[in-house]
Amino acid sequence: MPSSANSADLHSGEPLDLLVLGSGVAGLSAAVRAARRHGLRVGVLTKGELEQSTTRWAQGGVAAVLHADPDSPDSTDLHLLDTLTAGAGLCDEDAVRVLVDEGPSRVNGLIALGATFDRDGEGKLELAREGGHTLPRIVHAGGTDTGAEIERALVDAVRATAAAIFEHAFATDLLVEAGRCRGVRAVTTDGVVDVAARNVLLATGGAGQLYSVTTNPVEATGDGVAMALRAGVACADVEFVQFHPTAVHRATMPRLLLSEALRGHGAKLRDARGERFVDELLPRDQVSRAITRRMLDDGTEHVWLDITELEAFDQRFPTLTRELRAAGFDPPAEWVPVAPAAHYFCGGVVTDLDGATSLPGLWAAGEVACSGVHGANRLASNSLLEGMVFGWRVVEAIEAGQEGPSTTGAMRAVLGTAADGAIGGRPLPGWTSPGALAWTPPAAMADAGVADLLARFQHGMTAGAGVLRSADSLDEAAVLVDKVRGELGPVGSVAGVQLANLLDVATAVLAAARAREESRGAHTRSDHPDRRDEFCFRLVLSR
Ligand code: SIN
Repeated sequence: MPSSANSADLHSGEPLDLLVLGSGVAGLSAAVRAARRHGLRVGVLTKGELEQSTTRWAQGGVAAVLHADPDSPDSTDLHLLDTLTAGAGLCDEDAVRVLVDEGPSRVNGLIALGATFDRDGEGKLELAREGGHTLPRIVHAGGTDTGAEIERALVDAVRATAAAIFEHAFATDLLVEAGRCRGVRAVTTDGVVDVAARNVLLATGGAGQLYSVTTNPVEATGDGVAMALRAGVACADVEFVQFHPTAVHRATMPRLLLSEALRGHGAKLRDARGERFVDELLPRDQVSRAITRRMLDDGTEHVWLDITELEAFDQRFPTLTRELRAAGFDPPAEWVPVAPAAHYFCGGVVTDLDGATSLPGLWAAGEVACSGVHGANRLASNSLLEGMVFGWRVVEAIEAGQEGPSTTGAMRAVLGTAADGAIGGRPLPGWTSPGALAWTPPAAMADAGVADLLARFQHGMTAGAGVLRSADSLDEAAVLVDKVRGELGPVGSVAGVQLANLLDVATAVLAAARAREESRGAHTRSDHPDRRDEFCFRLVLSR
């Protein structure tokens, strides 16, 4: 376990004040705030190195109304409205209000921390437009290197302030005693250890590796949601997996993302005949659906993104220019083949407005969380924003002595009643929490065998639970998931636990997608094509 600031903490009995799982924008924002502002003893535990997180891959930017320009027609009310519209009726309005109101301060905090965003000749922040936004309001860095720049600034700050950094340490389960989370069990290069903490923040990101076609890195294996499901912690909205419309159609994974910023700058989608078929600036669920239907109608595996009219392409998008050239294209001189790819997990571990989960001592922020800000479909460039806003709020709530969840935000679907006008919750019919991990090192199955099973599983999920799904396709995927689980058996390696985590998350996704007999946001049922008012609730999975 290299570069632990204080690896003795892993084994000592002294609990950390806050143990952060994951090293993306949510976790690191919380770690920095907790250590710098409040002097808490913070540990960050991550299965790779600190710099390795999905945040680093985020391209487009951060949506925030910064009011740098007094003449701007934009407002946080408009940002709120766009977010609610994209969320297709399932956003928690209070959570979105928190997001849009507190976001600008968090962006300014990042700038103070040393993050550099793109500016025009007069030094004003450049603002881009993306799908679902009525106005340009996306701040960005290095064109499409926004996540990398934010990660760089936060990693530097965490390395300087955290009491302990545990790299190459993989949390496998929550430690729960007397109804409270008291740490995690982790696999390290020294074996299996228990890490004690007064508070644990799940900031483990998403689950893009559920699918064979994804923009997510190999780390995105749903670890946080799986641990929460196994511990019986309430999760919701897991059927809403967002597919990004424009990933480069190529064999290598993860697929290279062509940021929405390109469409915001005028790139056009064209079908096999070269014809436009959709408004490129609609929210991304609608664009992905239109592309998928066009591909099915035309019998093609991709459509085209026409970037030929984009001016100064290589200056505005230097990294994409380099990456497209490396992939054999000549940007912006030619159209690029694109198709939807799994991109973002809209649901997750249910939280209140301060990131508290249904288990006291356990908090969640970022993609792993269901805070209510995304509803059935996340608005472009709201994800980095969510991480920084809610990671910060978790720390303030811990400092304020909050114990357990309040009846606010998405948590109202678990604790509250629908009478207050918020989105209500219903238990997912027939749901039982997955059993404990069957951990039997040394690995029962060699990693090559796990990789083969993973590939079969991912193809089954793409076929059965992709952009378009039906009762039959979901049932077929569920049969495959059970079969793969049986073949995997007990696990004794990190690769094995990651696949076990994906299987637990997939079971939840398939069951929720099966139960939601309507089409809403990122969840499209070909056998139930309409949105149905009677389904305007969260499907809650808990013990
Ligand atoms: C993009 O740049 O298109 C992706 C940004 C996001 O996921 O919001």
